[in-house]
Amino acid sequence: MTDAHDDATSFVPHLDARQRAMLAEMGVRVWAPRAEAVTAELAPAPVPEVSAPMAPPPVEPRPPAHPAPAAAPRAAPAAPAVAPAAPPTAAERLRPAGVAQMDWPALQAAVAGCEACGLCKTRRNTVFGVGDTRTDWMIVGEAPGENEDLQGEPFVGAAGQLLDNMLRAVGRTRSGEGTKGAYIANVLKCRPPANRNPQPQEVAQCEPYLARQVALVKPKIIVAMGRFAVQSLLRTEEPIGRLRGRVHRYEGVPVIVTYHPAYLLRTPADKAKAWEDLCLAMETAEGL
Ligand code: URA
Repeated sequence: MTDAHDDATSFVPHLDARQRAMLAEMGVRVWAPRAEAVTAELAPAPVPEVSAPMAPPPVEPRPPAHPAPAAAPRAAPAAPAVAPAAPPTAAERLRPAGVAQMDWPALQAAVAGCEACGLCKTRRNTVFGVGDTRTDWMIVGEAPGENEDLQGEPFVGAAGQLLDNMLRAVGRTRSGEGTKGAYIANVLKCRPPANRNPQPQEVAQCEPYLARQVALVKPKIIVAMGRFAVQSLLRTEEPIGRLRGRVHRYEGVPVIVTYHPAYLLRTPADKAKAWEDLCLAMETAEGL
């Protein structure tokens, strides 16, 4: 929009200048609590180009868990995949501040001591991330399972073996020794009990850690594996099948969507599609 926001209707994109002048002349004002919010609502939906962290609320410091006052303005439409849930508990306010400025040791220590959500009560280990921190490829999965919780490393079970094979197929290993490397991290750093689905509040609390890992690695490509990782990173509820085959973005980094290795173990027929996804990731990274 090139017009200045000089009248109450200037943010409504389908009105031309003459119509806006007429409405203004008639004294018709289009109600909007905040022009920017409405502009965002009315704008055509972009391909997710997430320049802000994926989780909705900035969580440091958390506001006290007061109920919303009766006269509070209505919240902007919630982001679909990871909409905020209940207000934070006292424990959930304990994530250290300054995550976005941390170096690797500080970040690792912050995750190891994190008590920002209830998962800290049931975890045996935090699962920070593993691999080559100077690589141009980053793999993002969902959350630690039982083996990962025991060992403190992502993707160490059967799904992890398949992930290693997938990486080898594109000439990479997680260590990067003698080959190209990859850095592997999960959206959640702690295991959800009984491998239940991660909850929005847990994602919101954990997300700054992943965002910082991405910022420190500075990968050329992120391969997001599985519905949960994909939908959390891209803030969408679209199924993987509709998101595959094109390049998305998280924090400015190209993201390729593919199936989770655990799913591929159950559904080997889809391994061919996962291979296509890895080829797209290679092409995308090499084309940069
Ligand atoms: N599944 C994941 O998404 N991450 C792990 O670390 C293990 C299994």
